[in-house]
This record gives sequence, C-alpha cells and structure tokens, in this order.
Amino acid sequence: MQDIIQELEDRRAAARMGGGERRIDAQHKKGKLTARERLDVLLDEGSFEEFDMFVTHKCQDFGMDAEHIPGDGVITGWGTINGRVTYVYSQDFTVYGGSLSETHAKKICKVQEMAMRNGAPIIGINDSGGARIQEGVASLAGYTSVFQNNIKASGVIPQISVIMGPCAGGAVYSPALTDFVFMVRDSSYMFLTGPDVVKTVTNEVVTAEELGGAKTHTAKSSVADGSFENDIDALMEVRRLFDFLPLNNQAGCPERPFFDDPKRKEPSLDTIIPSNANTPYDMKELVLKLSDESDFYEIQEDFAKNILTGFIRLEGSTVGVIANQPMVLAGCLDINASRKAARFVRFCDAFDIPLLTLVDVPGFLPGTAQEYGGVIKHGAKLLYAYGEATVPRVTVITRKAYGGAYCVMSPKHLGGDINYAWPTAEIAVMGAKGAVEILHRSDLGDAEKIAALTQDYEDRFANPFVAAENGFIDEVIMPQNTRMRVARAFASLKGKEVTTPWRKHDNLPL
Ligand code: HXC
Repeated sequence: MQDIIQELEDRRAAARMGGGERRIDAQHKKGKLTARERLDVLLDEGSFEEFDMFVTHKCQDFGMDAEHIPGDGVITGWGTINGRVTYVYSQDFTVYGGSLSETHAKKICKVQEMAMRNGAPIIGINDSGGARIQEGVASLAGYTSVFQNNIKASGVIPQISVIMGPCAGGAVYSPALTDFVFMVRDSSYMFLTGPDVVKTVTNEVVTAEELGGAKTHTAKSSVADGSFENDIDALMEVRRLFDFLPLNNQAGCPERPFFDDPKRKEPSLDTIIPSNANTPYDMKELVLKLSDESDFYEIQEDFAKNILTGFIRLEGSTVGVIANQPMVLAGCLDINASRKAARFVRFCDAFDIPLLTLVDVPGFLPGTAQEYGGVIKHGAKLLYAYGEATVPRVTVITRKAYGGAYCVMSPKHLGGDINYAWPTAEIAVMGAKGAVEILHRSDLGDAEKIAALTQDYEDRFANPFVAAENGFIDEVIMPQNTRMRVARAFASLKGKEVTTPWRKHDNLPL
C-alpha cells in the first residue's frame, strides 16, 4: 500500500514540475509566473481541484513518442474566488511552449463543458506558442473544438481570458470569442501572424510589441479590455471583476453587504456642470460619486475614451454603467464609442445586469473618416443593443442630449424604464447655433438678429422641460440626489418582466 501511495506522490511531483527546473527558471527570468503559480494567485487558497493531471499526448511523429510530459502543457480544474465556483485552465509554457495538442484541447474542452453544465464561469490563462507543430491537423481540430465550445458558452456563462505570454495564430481566436480579454504589459502579445511573416508578406517592419502588445490591443484594436503591470496585478484584478459578475445567465447579480448609505447626498454634483455649455467636466467623477464605496471597474479604459463603460454596485448589487465622457471629443458618439458601448450593453443584457446610462452627448462625430468607416452601421449597433435589452434600465441626462445621439442613449422610446434629467439638461434636435443657421439662412449676415434668434432657441429648447412636458423624461431631479433616485429606481424595477416575439436569433448590424 505504501508503495502505491508513494507512486501517486512521485507521479504528482513529476507532473507539477511541468517542463522541468530549467524551463521554470527561464519563465521566472522573464518576470512571468508559472501556470500553477498563476492559479495559486487567482483562486482562493487551497480551493483548486485539478483534473487530468496525468493526461499525455498521443503524437507518434517527430520523435514525440519518446517523451510524455504529464498534463500535456495545460492545467485544468476548478476552484473558488471569494467562495464562488469558477472553472479554469492555465497553459504551461514550460511544456512545448504551452502549444495546443489534441489532448491539450480535450482537457480545455472538458472544463468548458463542465462549466456550462454546472453554471459557473470559466477563466482561461493563455501562454502558448499556438498549434503544436508536431501534431499538424489534429491540433487544428482541437482548436476548433475549443472555439465551438466558446460559442456555445457565449451568453450562458461568463468567459474571461487572460493573456500572459505569446498568443499567436489559432491561440488568439479562443480569447477573441470570450467576454473579456486582459493582457500583461511587456510580456504578452496577440497576433494572427508574427513580425517575420508580416515583413515577408507586406514588407512592414514592426516589433512584436507594436504589432500585438498590450498597448496596441487596449488602445488601438480594442481586442483587449484592459492591461496590467504584471501577472499578479492582472490576476488580482480578474478576481475583482469576478466579484461583479453573475455565475451564469440565470443566477442573477451577486449581492454583497454594503456600507455606503443609498440615500447619501452629493451636494458637489449641483455645481459639477460648468456655466459654459462647451466646457467639459469629468463624467467619471459622477460615476464614482454615485456608486457604492466609489468602486468602479472600468472596461476598455484606454479605448474610445469618449464613452465610459464598466461595473459599479448600488445597494450591494451590480449595475453596468455607460456614460458619455465630455472630456474627450466633447462626449460625441463615433464608430469606436458605439462599438465599445454596444458590446458592453449586450454583455450586461445577456447576464441580467441592470443598465445605468449617463448622458451628455452633443451628437455623432461628423466627417468623412466616420462616414467612410461606416458610422451608420456602427452607431446602429448601439441603437440595436439598447433596443433589444430587456434588463432594468435607468437613464440620467446631465447636460446635452442632441439629435440621433439622444435617440441612441437609452431614451424611453428605446425601452428605458426610468428616465431622469438634471435641470441643466438640454434635449433638442441640435444645438441652438446649428439650428438657427439652418432655419434662418437668409439672415446670416445680420449678426444681431442671429444672436437674438440663437438666444430664443436656447431659451426654448436648451432645457429638460419640453421633454418632461411630453413625458419623455419621468422627472427632473436635483443632481445631489442622483444616487438616491437611481438606487430607488433600480429597486422598483426588480420585478421587471418583458416578453419578446419568438425568433431564431436577431440580425445585429455586424
Ligand atoms: C511545439 C513549440 C511551439 C509549437 C514553441 N514551442 N512553440 N513546440 N509547437 N507551436 C517550443 C519550442 O520548441 C521550445 O521548446 C519551447 O516551446 C519554447 O519556445 P522558444 O521558441 O524557445 O521560446 P521563445 O523564444 O520565448 O518564443 C516563443 C514563441 C516561439 C514566440 C511562441 O516559440 C514561436 O514563434 N513558436 C511558434 C509559433 C507558431 O508559429 N505557432 C503556430 C501558429 S499557427 P524547448 O524544448 O526548446 O523548450 C496556428 C494555427 C492554428 O496556431 C489555427 C487554428 C484556427
């Protein structure tokens, strides 16, 4: 008996060594944790239960039959984050560069399927040289099965990808199919084809960092939702995000004890809107002042900064926030802001997370770059996302809500449940100057008359009352009471039920 127990211990010890001491040291020298160390940081202490520790590859070619490393380059199983279950996989770069073989893929598929069956999220830690070159098409088949499971799980359980090393070729598509992608600065990159292939095909000279580093994907491509300084920061932030998310699409938002009075007044908000309508102010200040304990988990902080997206809590329960940011492009909607916000709205709606929309938007950004880039179709994505969202929705217009942008930003006509405006709100087809220039084109030479007409238009329309008189705004509220009004509004919407006509699926303007 002792011998058998000893054999188990020896086998476990061998599996835990992955690709061996030398490669573990090399991983540490790059400032990276090993696959197992990463799971230790991500999961509650002692909570990890491993599956398939002794699985090995089946490849017979290129001398592979002579070497079998238990676990085959990926550690899989489940554990808890602050007591809530999550399934995980963590690729081990010390074993064939974390490359994906047929059995490696089967291990990932197994935890994906268990996560779906048991209604718990899945978190994948990616550190991989892509398809296992020695296995050829078997590896491609493995990748595709992982993708298929990502697609099945979409909208059913939250899927989070953390990129902690190279992620090339097929390796990028599984993360791209998940809900959130996070990267580590200076040690992770994602691209379909690396710098050498790029040079051969297009003659462009580019570094791996420029082509697919964290900065590129968080600020330019929007493939990644956030980046962090090192492995530990990234994993701790994933734990923080996890606490905001439901376990699945039927579990409802997590609720946790809160120590911030929902009736808290914020007198400073009464003066946050500058007297000049063209002067910006920081919408993030409003988000922080509204939320429990000023805790805001921002998604895509470095991309399309003219709109803010992220999670807060109100009375301990998660709320998704979408807010125009007047500090950037005057808060205009453009292609990138529309795509960013639409994706966020759809995530929240899929997982039953209520939506708070804070509006200060002068309109869509004009110009050929926007029109040629398809701003009509991209703007329609946001319109569509709001229009199909059935979760409780509260909207607050703080200042401008002009034109098409008013129609997009969760008005009542698009299913907003409770819509408030501050007394400083300006709700109209367009700003006074533009309106007068169109309506009184023949008087443009008469500056005095134009000034009087502009003033007249402002007096009549640059306020929330025309909309309120029509019932398009439920109530004009004092800015200092916004946290209390919004929290009460969401509390009143807890029983919301909506029925929608049957369809196979929608046809979102992609
Ligand atoms: C098998 C691999 C491997 C792979 C790396 N290794 N990638 N083994 N298949 N894809 C092994 C190396 O042989 C080496 O083994 C160890 O992993 C570490 O690799 P190094 O090159 O020494 O590390 P580093 O210098 O850090 O470079 C990492 C790397 C590079 C950038 C990932 O290894 C690389 O470019 N690999 C190939 C990437 C690639 O082209 N993959 C295929 C993509 S095509 P030893 O024994 O020395 O430790 C693809 C198609 C899928 O994925 C499409 C699906 C739709």
